[in-house]
Amino acid sequence: MVVNKNPVEIVAVIGPKGGVGKTSISANLAISLAQLGKKVVAIDLDLGASNLNTFLGIRSSKYTLDDFILNKVGKLQEIVLETGLENMGFICGGNIPGIANLHYSKKMKLIRNLAMLDYDFVLLDLGAGASYNVVDFVIISQKSLLVTTPEIPSILNTYSFLKTLVFRRLTMALKEFHNQTLLDLLEQARDVEKNPHLKRMDDLVQVIQKIDSSASRLVKQILLGIRPAMILNRIRSGKDEKACVAIENLMRQYLGIECSKILHVHEDASVGHAIAKMKPVMINNPGSVFANDINEIAMFLTG
Ligand SMILES: Nc1ncnc2c1ncn2[C@@H]1O[C@H](COP(=O)(O)OP(=O)(O)OP(=O)(O)O)[C@@H](O)[C@H]1O
Ligand SMILES: [Mg+2]
Repeated sequence: MVVNKNPVEIVAVIGPKGGVGKTSISANLAISLAQLGKKVVAIDLDLGASNLNTFLGIRSSKYTLDDFILNKVGKLQEIVLETGLENMGFICGGNIPGIANLHYSKKMKLIRNLAMLDYDFVLLDLGAGASYNVVDFVIISQKSLLVTTPEIPSILNTYSFLKTLVFRRLTMALKEFHNQTLLDLLEQARDVEKNPHLKRMDDLVQVIQKIDSSASRLVKQILLGIRPAMILNRIRSGKDEKACVAIENLMRQYLGIECSKILHVHEDASVGHAIAKMKPVMINNPGSVFANDINEIAMFLTG
């Protein structure tokens, strides 16, 4: 009997603009997973603004994502670089002009290739914000890690990031119904000032239900599927840890989504020290508070 290998687990690291720590966490989490004995590839998908290599301490790369996008290689596997770390590969980000607006067919080819990679974990460091590119990679990921920090501007940015993500996801799904009323309704619900009656997701779902009950079923199903684990990064105090309560309430009431888990990463000078030495924290200071927090996230992912 042929035993199928475990399917690859694609993990998307997402979050708002403002340097909340997506890349710091992606780089070190990939190393932590590899140290737990998992086969990992970290991929820089911050298209046009890639810098994951710096956080991994990789100065030069034989291949980048550009080689795949420009069809210089046939398969994504061919551009996986060695990191010098056991169990861990890396795909360096692309920087060709226009890569941030990846053509649909190229994106689909990339997505097909991601699923074919022979690793336990594929970690995607995605760009800031909820562009359609980001949304597409979130959809194909088994898990999403939503990175934010406890500061009010960051919490507000995270909420608007999630709102864009949810509405883009719903728009993509409801387009299949070829009913302009549904799409107009989504558009109206985004503008809560003008349409306070559609402020809460429950209100919107009820109105959709009256127009098309199968559309409202799909909306509910999609919302149930959006369950990011939230990483509150750069925590300094117990008060900071509570910042997630505000965003969880907003998510539940206005977007109809929940977090699957809240994880904490502390503010730690060892992050800056490691960057200055161009080494990952997990290697430069494996006993640090930051490294410890990252190991906890790795344990969460490995279950
Ligand atoms: N837990 C932490 N403790 C101390 N410094 C941190 C921590 N996390 C991140 N930083 C610092 O914050 C800066 C921004 O981090 P990073 O580049 O990982 O953010 P990002 O979300 O990937 O940003 P971008 O949206 O530009 O891609 C880095 O210089 C890093 O040193
Ligand atoms: Mg980044």
